[in-house]
Amino acid sequence: MKYDAILFDFDGTLTESGLGITRSVAYAFSRMGVPVPGQEILERFVGPPLIAAFQMYAGLDEEGARQATEHYRVRYRETGWKENRVYAGVAPMLRALKEAGCYLAIASGKPEVFVRQIAEHFGIARYFDKIVGITFETTHADKCALIARAMPEGMEPARAAMVGDRLFDMEAAKKMGLRAVGALYGYGTREELEQAGADEIAETVADLRRILLPGVAPERGLFLTFEGADGCGKSTQMKLLAEYLDARGYETVVSREPGGCEISERIRDLVLDIRYRGMSPECEALLYAASRVEHVRQVILPGVAAGKIVLCDRFLDSSFAYQARGRELGDDFIRQINAPARLAVPDRTLLFAGDPQVILQRLRAGENLDRLEVESDDFFSRVNRAYADIHAADPERVHVIDSNRSIEEIFSDVCADVNALLG
Ligand code: ADP
Ligand code: TYD
Repeated sequence: MKYDAILFDFDGTLTESGLGITRSVAYAFSRMGVPVPGQEILERFVGPPLIAAFQMYAGLDEEGARQATEHYRVRYRETGWKENRVYAGVAPMLRALKEAGCYLAIASGKPEVFVRQIAEHFGIARYFDKIVGITFETTHADKCALIARAMPEGMEPARAAMVGDRLFDMEAAKKMGLRAVGALYGYGTREELEQAGADEIAETVADLRRILLPGVAPERGLFLTFEGADGCGKSTQMKLLAEYLDARGYETVVSREPGGCEISERIRDLVLDIRYRGMSPECEALLYAASRVEHVRQVILPGVAAGKIVLCDRFLDSSFAYQARGRELGDDFIRQINAPARLAVPDRTLLFAGDPQVILQRLRAGENLDRLEVESDDFFSRVNRAYADIHAADPERVHVIDSNRSIEEIFSDVCADVNALLG
């Protein structure tokens, strides 16, 4: 292990909190009757103690700055804290550091209550041995004191690193004898970090990972597929899940079948074109398989190998449901023609199932139906039975989600399932 303990600043290092902070600062300026400055000035508030920043940039005395901070906190407490996201790649990095046995802490100049609330909301609190921030009464956040509180007892400072995006973080780290690692993807500049004595500078989260975990390749990501009869609501849930995971610091790839890369999207246009209603079932099945093998090679395997979470709207199970059973081509034929694509096996398949009549109504209420969506009720009955068989044959991979509920209720099950998989 390069470091036995790593302390992280919060805003601009773990989370991209600029939006919530700058909007709340702008609110405080207007409540104080001071003209709201441009974005460049507003962004200087991300990182340094607020009271000092209000004195410097709003021309307020200490008492005025204290009042402005109060106004700021009113908006921040209500909405600002959620206008935030964990930087992409941070969650798997923290997990890898934890698994390597590293002590992890947050040392932030933000009220500790907010830091905990945000870290918990965005799912990263569990990686930290200690979370340290200021109290609401603190007027001057002393980063050295925060570092002292966040360090594990008896740890030699030289075995520890402080990661931060501003000069305060670097200066305090050096003063306390820790290695100072600058996060240039945050709100500081290279000059600022270098002048403050940064030992190493990470331009991206991937760089930071290489600095903190040298020689450790990113672990494999995940491949999640979404299945079900047309209109079951899987695309809606997949989109929500991608936003949820993005905000929590995972890198996601959102894709679909047929399609997902240039060649496969062209095959999609062909295979779903309503003008080719007379296409033979074999031709249709081969086109789906051709589209899939290219997609697996170009998108799915590289994404998973790079540690990303690949979310795919439909995959091989669709060919078993629609072509093997719906078109009655048989499972063997589909298995054979899809052999080259079977290098990719989903870690989890969420199968959305509900009352077929409700789903068909939902589907047919839409416009511009494609070639498969105009199929008969019998066809869809075979598809639904096939999905039930797919679940029965592999219940560990395929989890059924009841789609006869509201979007929010379904989404809460989707999150619970995926969170269990993420560990
Ligand atoms: P799919 O990708 O499975 O075909 P979509 O996610 O595109 O399904 O949803 C089909 C239609 O049903 C869309 O108009 C969508 O807004 C609507 N919808 C999705 N989920 C629900 C739900 N739980 N309740 C009611 N309508 C829904
Ligand atoms: P799409 O518009 O993406 O429908 P949905 O939102 O319901 O997924 O169209 C995909 C259609 O292609 C859908 O009707 C199912 C069909 N399909 C197959 O028949 N076999 C397959 O292997 C795949 C991937 C899709």
